[in-house]
Amino acid sequence: MRTIVALPGDGIGKTVLPESIRLLDAVGFEANYVHGDIGWEFWQKEGNALPQRTIDLLEEHKIGLFGAITSKPKDDAVNELAPELKDKGYVYFSPIVGLRQHFNLDICIRPCKAFKGNPLNFIRKDSTGGFVEPPVDTVIFRQNTEGMYGGIEWTNPPQIVREAFETHPKMKKFAHVKSEDLAISTRIVSRQATERIFRAAFEYATKFGYKNVTVCEKPNVLRETSGMYIKIARQIHKEYPGIQLWDTNIDAQMMWLTKNPEDYGVIVAENMFGDIISDGFAGLVGGLGFACSANIGDEVAVFEPTHGSAPKYEKLNPSIVNPIAMFLSACMMLEHLGEAEKAEQIRKAIAEVIEEGKVQTYDMKKLRGGADVFENGACTTQEMTDAVISKL
Ligand code: NAI
Ligand code: MG
Repeated sequence: MRTIVALPGDGIGKTVLPESIRLLDAVGFEANYVHGDIGWEFWQKEGNALPQRTIDLLEEHKIGLFGAITSKPKDDAVNELAPELKDKGYVYFSPIVGLRQHFNLDICIRPCKAFKGNPLNFIRKDSTGGFVEPPVDTVIFRQNTEGMYGGIEWTNPPQIVREAFETHPKMKKFAHVKSEDLAISTRIVSRQATERIFRAAFEYATKFGYKNVTVCEKPNVLRETSGMYIKIARQIHKEYPGIQLWDTNIDAQMMWLTKNPEDYGVIVAENMFGDIISDGFAGLVGGLGFACSANIGDEVAVFEPTHGSAPKYEKLNPSIVNPIAMFLSACMMLEHLGEAEKAEQIRKAIAEVIEEGKVQTYDMKKLRGGADVFENGACTTQEMTDAVISKL
């Protein structure tokens, strides 16, 4: 039997992850779940939010199902360490970023598909004054390990870095700025990783019948990095003649987001642009309660909802949060494991519950979150799971 590393993490991660396992059991997915320690508790107790034993578990079992973690700014993090760990020089780093880097989970997939009847779906006025609800079904492929979020940056850059940058003519305008008054963040991309994300995107489009792949970059300004994205897109596109290759600029794409989102199938972008555009599309289909993702490397893959630990709701009992983003992430895991039929069964059950409109979490009811949402007709997290299970 398969073993899945269950990584609940913090806050509502501890609520939605067990609910997704309850659903996976109900659909007949056979697996063992081993618990992996991750998150704030382990930062506080051990000075490490991603203990080596958790890395070892993933190394062994390859598949992680992850809830959410809490991150806090550097100084707050040190203040919350156990007293005996303070002043030992521990530095907090995000365990999910740590996982992506350690296992080179370079391909991030974020599907944004509207469920019919979801009250949170984007609607648009049509030419007759009526409204249309565009059938959004866009999958963002975000490069997860390089680019603007690659982490290669300095405030007060060392002299050698400064000198290297000064070989570029455009650095002249900073020649008189003192190093301590300079901050540099880089955007570095490699051919190898760029080829990998495009190949994955074209393969996905082929497998799931999407008609176009769009490169969403800014090559007119970022001539080198975005330029490489376009060049490699065109090169790999030659192997997939049945799929159209489009390109858009990130800024224009944000404008088109509300004009014609239904036209876009698969979108590929560098780390930061992918982060931006995937949040944009997620907003059209219900936002954080519906936004799922997969982080895929050569060997290891980790599936997680896009949302965080929502600390303001973690103590509410019963829980009010929407588990659907976690369910859809579990569906991506099923697909990855060759259990596409079970994934489809779950998605169909979710679609039925949403279309019926009887069972809705507070976000779907457009309520302000709090203990009183039940009086206003919202269901609990567990009731949503029960409703989906009843439709299987
Ligand atoms: P968040 O995603 O936790 O919450 C943002 C808003 O969405 C809140 O109003 C929250 O209550 C609501 N929300 C989130 N998930 C929901 C769900 N399933 N159903 C209904 N409503 C939901 O982001 P926030 O508040 O910026 O950050 C909270 C903590 O989470 C921070 O420590 C942050 O660093 C961490 N975080 C972790 C992520 C991860 O684990 N991958 C991603 C984003 C934030
Ligand atoms: Mg984001």
